[in-house]
Amino acid sequence: MTDLLADLDGLRSLARERLAEASSAREVDAIRQELLGRSGRLTALLKQLGSVPADQRPALGQAANGARLEIETAIADQLAKLNAGDLGARLAEEAIDMSAPGRPLRTGHLHPVLTTMRDLREIFHAYGFEVFEGPEIETEEYNFELLNIPPDHPARDLWDTLYVAEPGSVEAGQPRPATDGTILRAHTSPTQIRAMRALEPPIRVLTPGRCFRYEAVDASHGFEFFQIEGLVVDRDTSLADLKGMLEEVARALYGRDVKTRFRPGYYPFTEPSVAFDIGCLVCGGVGCPACKRSGWMTILGAGMVHPTVLRNGGFDPDDFQGYAFGMGPDRMTMLRHGIGDIRLFFSADLRFLGQFAEGR
Ligand code: PHE
Repeated sequence: MTDLLADLDGLRSLARERLAEASSAREVDAIRQELLGRSGRLTALLKQLGSVPADQRPALGQAANGARLEIETAIADQLAKLNAGDLGARLAEEAIDMSAPGRPLRTGHLHPVLTTMRDLREIFHAYGFEVFEGPEIETEEYNFELLNIPPDHPARDLWDTLYVAEPGSVEAGQPRPATDGTILRAHTSPTQIRAMRALEPPIRVLTPGRCFRYEAVDASHGFEFFQIEGLVVDRDTSLADLKGMLEEVARALYGRDVKTRFRPGYYPFTEPSVAFDIGCLVCGGVGCPACKRSGWMTILGAGMVHPTVLRNGGFDPDDFQGYAFGMGPDRMTMLRHGIGDIRLFFSADLRFLGQFAEGR
């Protein structure tokens, strides 16, 4: 019996020593197999129990169980210790420096002309205008005829039109305008007709959109540009309403001190017609390429809707009148920021565009 007890003690201290040296979970497991496994040392010792006198067996059995428990506890402790070490090592290795600055995200922003268009939409919203959109690909009928500009009328020269080619004519080496009159709209005015035909008075609509003209590009002209059309049709409207409103709009956009003037103008679809000018903010009125050295910039054309146009829209000019205006948001944006060349808007040059990141 004393031998067996001594052996169990030996096993205990062996376990302690070996476990203390174990540096991985795998090593601990190997020690477990060796000491407690089915063909391990403890099992071998227990086999000797059979040859021990019966009265000593219970005490020895108890001692053996005590030894097993102790060794198992030591194994669990060592594993826990190793795990904690692993975790500590991993945490140290994978540590993230929370104080490091993040990588900057490149975010986009609105084009300055779009910002102006949004601001105009807001300003006109206060006057009761809502947005009514029309197509960029139009017909000559809507772009000209219904707006009181008959086919051979000299006023057509005011709008240098981009025609869509008759299918096949380009391939044949003889491009000619499509016989169905398909064109790129030269102004947003065709939507005057579309709005009158679609809506019931009182009509107060704003049509923002892209327009196209066969035009030599210079500091103040692009072949592609924006317009915002405005149209009011009601029973009791006057040029005075239009004038007062536009002066307020100019102040809302450019500040109280902006200089404005109305000049007589000519458009076949309005009578009388006016042009609305802003004192050039690029040069302060002394004259520069942006204002063609006149000190003024025309930002819109306007007038009372011509009776013929009202009739084409489906209204009796004896019952209804209205006014219309067509603004140029590109130029209005140039004035706003003192930009001297309209071509910058189409340049896709981020050094230029990036200056408007604050949305202003
Ligand atoms: N459509 C005209 C242009 O492009 C502007 C305009 C619109 C004038 C509405 C009067 C009324 O020049």
